[in-house]
Amino acid sequence: MRIYRAKDYDDMSRKAANIISAQVILKPDCVLGLATGSTPIGAYKQLVEWYNKGDLDFSEVTTVNLDEYKGLPRDNDQSYYYFMRENLFKHVNIPEGRSFLPDGTEPDSEKACSRYNEIIHQVGGIDLQLLGLGQNGHIGFNEPDDHFSLETHCVDLTPSTIEANKRFFEKKEDVPRQAYTMGIKTIMQAKRVLLVASGKEKAQALRDAVYGPVTPALPASILQYHKNVYIVADEAALSLFG
Ligand code: F6R
Repeated sequence: MRIYRAKDYDDMSRKAANIISAQVILKPDCVLGLATGSTPIGAYKQLVEWYNKGDLDFSEVTTVNLDEYKGLPRDNDQSYYYFMRENLFKHVNIPEGRSFLPDGTEPDSEKACSRYNEIIHQVGGIDLQLLGLGQNGHIGFNEPDDHFSLETHCVDLTPSTIEANKRFFEKKEDVPRQAYTMGIKTIMQAKRVLLVASGKEKAQALRDAVYGPVTPALPASILQYHKNVYIVADEAALSLFG
């Protein structure tokens, strides 16, 4: 694991965007695994800025996102599809039809998940997977559990994740209770992984992920077994690293 210490959120965002843009420049037809949530927003903004300056070209890039709420249509402003469109897709030149997310509108979980696995296989796997970190150590929506998950599956969100995500909804009751998420095995098969973390709320999970035992009770800890992990975190998130 390589850990990059950033001064603050903006510095973390720039450093993360640098790693993503290096991937796109070195392999223009790469597959980027993308994440939603508040942490990567600054990195996406930076990528859009570099794209507008003519320094980045996404014309051969394919993207696959980590997860999507089950039951939210794409035009719901809390769907991850909507998030990705607003924060990245509508601003850059990723070709139409080359950005994939699990289909949250598919009520049949088995169908939705096997279709998404098929897509990930068809695009040839992930070159660089971007991850945020849940306060409980989740990655994607792989919540603490007694085993590591394999491929895309449907999950019940834990009370702590519902609590953490309610800030995006009018009221807590509106937070969907289930989501489709890429599994741990798929994340581990990505050639490179970039985990971003910001703020003191992430400090304990980040410390445990890097220095604690590898356990499905803290899903991000599995990354200790991945050969190419880049962690970009700000001072607050790294405050328990000593
Ligand atoms: C988002 C995702 C989640 C978030 C995590 C952190 O696609 O898969 O694992 O990365 O919940 O969220 P933020 O960045 O909002 O703290």
